[in-house]
Amino acid sequence: MSSAKAAKKKTAIKKNIVKTIKKKKPVTAKGELYASLVMQLRSLLKGEYDFVANTANFSALVFNSLPDVSWAGFYLLHDDELVLGPFQGKPACVRIPFGKGVCGFAAKQCETVIVPNVHEFPGHIACDPASNSEIVIPLFDGERVLGVFDVDSPTLKRFDDQDAEGLNELVTVLVAHEEGLDG
Ligand code: SME
Repeated sequence: MSSAKAAKKKTAIKKNIVKTIKKKKPVTAKGELYASLVMQLRSLLKGEYDFVANTANFSALVFNSLPDVSWAGFYLLHDDELVLGPFQGKPACVRIPFGKGVCGFAAKQCETVIVPNVHEFPGHIACDPASNSEIVIPLFDGERVLGVFDVDSPTLKRFDDQDAEGLNELVTVLVAHEEGLDG
């Protein structure tokens, strides 16, 4: 290879490295919090396969660790209804028809839903009048929706993409554990 060609190649490689470094997500306080929650969750789940116990501890971990949260818990799919599961916070609506409210919508679409202002979400079910924003993560075993994990906040626009990513990782760890896929 001529020295000119070699220099060109070197520059191309350097550019690639710079691109890769730039692409790498920065570590943020919120990112670190979720990373720590994933580790705490793994240790809470270790050796325990009771679904109620694990979902109860999951709710307590999230509720007590995330700032500015007024409710955190599960709605589990039974036939065509979401039924209240383990949670932390004030008493809540027990049954939500599949497709209704933010929870039913997330379950039906099988996707995470972030609602910056619940008062603007058509069909939002107000269990707690103090709630102003909400995030709902579907629990999905690959084929079936098992239910959702719902978190409420009294603050408008409380949840962002990092919360969606972090909570999805936590829910994925839980479902994989329940299905014995985490070894
Ligand atoms: N707001 C939810 C109902 C559940 S509570 O927030 C605990 C919804 O619209 O589905």
